[in-house]
Amino acid sequence: METGCRTAVLSVILSIVVFVRVCRNSLAEIDPVVVEELLLWEKEGMGEVNTYRIPLLTSTPNGNLLAIVEARKMNSDDAGSKFIAQRRSTDRGATWSPSSFIIDDVTSPDGLNLGSVVVDHEKNVIFLIYTLCFHFNKCSTSSVMMIESKNDGLSWSEPRNLSLQLGVEAFAPGPGFGIQKRYDPGKGRLVVCGHGTIEDDGVFCILSDDHGITWYKGEPLRSIPYHHKKKTLDFIPDEPQLVEMLDGSIIVNARNQYKYHCKCRVIVRSLDGGLTLPIEELYFDETLIDPSVAAGLLQKEGVLYFTNPSNTNSRENLTLRWSLNNGESWKNKTVQIWPGPSCYSCITSMDTGFIQDKKYIYVIYEKGQKNCDETISFVKIRLYAGH
Ligand SMILES: *[C@@H]1O[C@H](CO)[C@@H](O)[C@H](O)[C@H]1NC(C)=O
Ligand SMILES: *[C@@H]1O[C@H](CO)[C@@H](O)[C@H](O)[C@H]1NC(C)=O
Ligand SMILES: *[C@@H]1O[C@H](CO)[C@@H](O)[C@H](O)[C@H]1NC(C)=O
Repeated sequence: METGCRTAVLSVILSIVVFVRVCRNSLAEIDPVVVEELLLWEKEGMGEVNTYRIPLLTSTPNGNLLAIVEARKMNSDDAGSKFIAQRRSTDRGATWSPSSFIIDDVTSPDGLNLGSVVVDHEKNVIFLIYTLCFHFNKCSTSSVMMIESKNDGLSWSEPRNLSLQLGVEAFAPGPGFGIQKRYDPGKGRLVVCGHGTIEDDGVFCILSDDHGITWYKGEPLRSIPYHHKKKTLDFIPDEPQLVEMLDGSIIVNARNQYKYHCKCRVIVRSLDGGLTLPIEELYFDETLIDPSVAAGLLQKEGVLYFTNPSNTNSRENLTLRWSLNNGESWKNKTVQIWPGPSCYSCITSMDTGFIQDKKYIYVIYEKGQKNCDETISFVKIRLYAGH
């Protein structure tokens, strides 16, 4: 009798536990939906600028959004003179400040290239890192430059030449964001990954353990054949986006420039906070088909989000995917953000502890009707349908 009663009580408790778990899971089921989209920059009628490209997006220390792009003055080429333009939103993307130029590369013959934005949450500083003379067009030495903002992106410092510390090996940061390590190994470290020239190439990270005062290089994931002229199907990891996982490892998701092994993304994990990108930790993610492009990646509360033009041959079909198991597999369901021409993208979210901020991510991407360089578009995505 007593045992029977205990069993009954236990089974009631168990069913409550099961019920609560089921309810939790269904509430927490990720089912993203685009709730807002607006164009931040347009190619047509923009006066002194020919083309806007390479959009970066970050949340700031004070919980605002910052969108940063290359404003290409004369034409749409990667090389050539540019401004860096920014817009800032203090209401989670509903309205934006007018576009302003924060850098003019007028003194650099080859122009600048973006770039990586990284927030030091311990010191409330935003760093923006870009390159000069990456294409060796009318110049022979490339430089890695950095500006910083201590007032949430309202104003920026004079540029600092990081090549004085890093050396003059070509390094194109991002495009996308860098991270500050939240967990060991390397808690507090700033990590910004990028790629070298096509000949030397490979992906490597630059790191700072003192809040951006001194920077040093990590070990590269090298291209093959290293330091030799490449052919199609050779291994060239290019334009990476990195995220930190909850176990402190870093996942780097890179462009597969010449489609080695697959028309899909190159993934490499760093287990030492970005110091090395070991070949043992390399794989190809066949689900993440890709036309060779810079993509968006974000880790939010243990869920990985990924955006790219999901097509093996052409830059179109900008798609959001998500993974609940650290990228081992991706949910079959996807969200198509834009069926047409779309190229580079970048994802961010707010991490304020404010409950509303758990429910949204934000994407910025290159969007067009005929060509993806026509506009830069901002999208707000609600993660949980019906909430
Ligand atoms: C940055 O420093 C490097 C190394 O000293 C130098 O070669 C390069 O010219 C500098 N770049 C600029 C823009 O001053
Ligand atoms: C768009 O992406 C989805 C997800 O990868 C894929 O199933 C679909 O075939 C793609 N469509 C086009 C036209 O590329
Ligand atoms: C997801 O897609 C894969 C590959 O097409 C398939 O094997 C699997 O059964 C699908 N899973 C679900 C839950 O539909």
